[in-house]
Amino acid sequence: MILEAVNIKKGYPEGESRWLSVLDGVSISVGRGQIVAVTGESGVGKSTLLHLLGLLDTPNKGNVLFDGRETSMLTESQRAKLRGSEIGFVFQFHHLLPEFSALENVAIPARLAGIPESKALVQAEELLSKVNLIDRSDHLPNTLSGGEQQRVALARALICNPSVLLADEPTGNLDMKSAEHLTELLFSLAKENGLAVVLATHNRKLASKADRVFLLESGGIKDITGG
Ligand SMILES: Nc1ncnc2c1ncn2[C@@H]1O[C@H](COP(=O)(O)OP(=O)(O)OP(=O)(O)O)[C@@H](O)[C@H]1O
Ligand SMILES: [Mg+2]
Repeated sequence: MILEAVNIKKGYPEGESRWLSVLDGVSISVGRGQIVAVTGESGVGKSTLLHLLGLLDTPNKGNVLFDGRETSMLTESQRAKLRGSEIGFVFQFHHLLPEFSALENVAIPARLAGIPESKALVQAEELLSKVNLIDRSDHLPNTLSGGEQQRVALARALICNPSVLLADEPTGNLDMKSAEHLTELLFSLAKENGLAVVLATHNRKLASKADRVFLLESGGIKDITGG
């Protein structure tokens, strides 16, 4: 398993004395190259789970294992390093940097990882071709359509060759046709590169295209693949 959550509990303090329990003993395991969808109603904890799996946050109880290693033992800088080299993120809002072109936005994580500019730009071009946007390389984010912006964000998530891609409602702002297109592209690039994917979506139709589908409900999780 590349990524596992084992009996995770996560909640948030509410005021002085109350506790909001969100995840109450959630376990999920994701194999290398496997595409998993997590679905469930708004507020049920999909983003919370993805943040924990992506080492952006820590559980109150339970463990997140990356490639069999317990991540609770890691220091903050070790976690950041693991995140940078192994995990790609795509969010509902693209978070592209407005003053940089599509090509530069894709190249930035590679530059931050220490790859020389010329090489980073070549890799970014290859990825923009894969998401069918090479002819939009010079565009600033605000001159791209919503679907195009998300395809740039997908290319950016892939540039450091992660082994896991976490996608949190990446099609939340798109019409159904663009949402289906982005999801198909995301899944096909993942399969091509042997990437594991965890996709959070409330859209059951998109979720049903994953290898496995889980439903988050009242703090727990169940496998509803094929159901
Ligand atoms: N930092 C926080 N502090 C307090 N409560 C939080 C925090 N983050 C999330 N919550 C609460 O935890 C619950 C789960 O939130 P989460 O964002 O994980 O839901 P979600 O399933 O992703 O919903 P959506 O489909 O709307 O994105 C919500 O009730 C939310 O209000
Ligand atoms: Mg969410």
